[in-house]
Amino acid sequence: MDFDKLQAVKVERQGGITFVILNRPEKRNAMSPQLHFEMVEVLKELAEDEETKVLVLTGAGESWCAGQDIKLFFRELDDKPKERHLARLANHEWRWTLLSSFPKPTIAMVNGYCFGGAFVQLFACDFAIAADEAQFGLSEVNWGILPGGLVGKVIVDGLSYRDAVWYSMTGDSFDGKKAAEIKLINKSVPAVDLRAATVELAETLARKNPQTLRTIKESLRLVRGMSVDQAADYLLAKEREMRFMDTESGRAEAMKQFLDDKTYRPGMGEYQR
Ligand code: ACO
Repeated sequence: MDFDKLQAVKVERQGGITFVILNRPEKRNAMSPQLHFEMVEVLKELAEDEETKVLVLTGAGESWCAGQDIKLFFRELDDKPKERHLARLANHEWRWTLLSSFPKPTIAMVNGYCFGGAFVQLFACDFAIAADEAQFGLSEVNWGILPGGLVGKVIVDGLSYRDAVWYSMTGDSFDGKKAAEIKLINKSVPAVDLRAATVELAETLARKNPQTLRTIKESLRLVRGMSVDQAADYLLAKEREMRFMDTESGRAEAMKQFLDDKTYRPGMGEYQR
């Protein structure tokens, strides 16, 4: 795929870290149909891309993502059922289906505004680090709609019910520090440190066994909706699948380094790969 041809998205690489950048800064990275279609292609391309060890989702300019483009995604599609249907499919496909099941670790690097529909991709990412100065908000109520398109679901699953109701009914905006306090994100740092903090996390993840990381994220997402018995059986099956799929036989190698060679301690860090 020729990333240079993209108009609403940019892809940049730094070592094994691939930065996927929503790139409509003049519209605060609001999500147009074109952005949705491009993101579907980008995530499909990167899923099995050998160079991509960790994916970082961020935004160009002063915004992470100002939600759906109210003009291009809503008003202009209101009377075009076919185009609206295709845009909605793509919108759901990349922000949830492809991103939440992306086979490598994903980090939301929230550099600025994060409103409305942007909460879906925020929760679809495995990790989220924001600038202290970023502004978050479930602003749907402010223009007469509900947090639909999966937002209402991810916030009740991912936040306390009290916070989900508070922010979706008041539309109050809040900064990165507050977002960390209510566990919407992992942590916030001053904007000048945001990239370094993100890269540090990405590099930590890139040192781990990739098949193990993949299995952990798949498992944790799915067991949330299972009974205890289903989860126990599923996790055993995933453990066996992981060993089968792990081309570097990490489990055996790690046991050797700990038990025989005595060159590392699992409690204090990963085995030497
Ligand atoms: N949809 C369409 N256009 C948008 C959006 C959006 N979600 N957000 C920003 N823009 C456009 C503005 O219309 C403006 O365009 P123009 O230059 O052609 O007039 C441009 O981006 C810059 O926006 P400003 O409002 O001038 O920028 P400012 O930095 O002052 O404010 C802010 C940024 C706070 C993000 C503001 O633009 C805003 O409130 N946007 C809407 C946020 C929102 O409610 N999103 C949820 C949408 S609903 C959903 O996602 C389901």
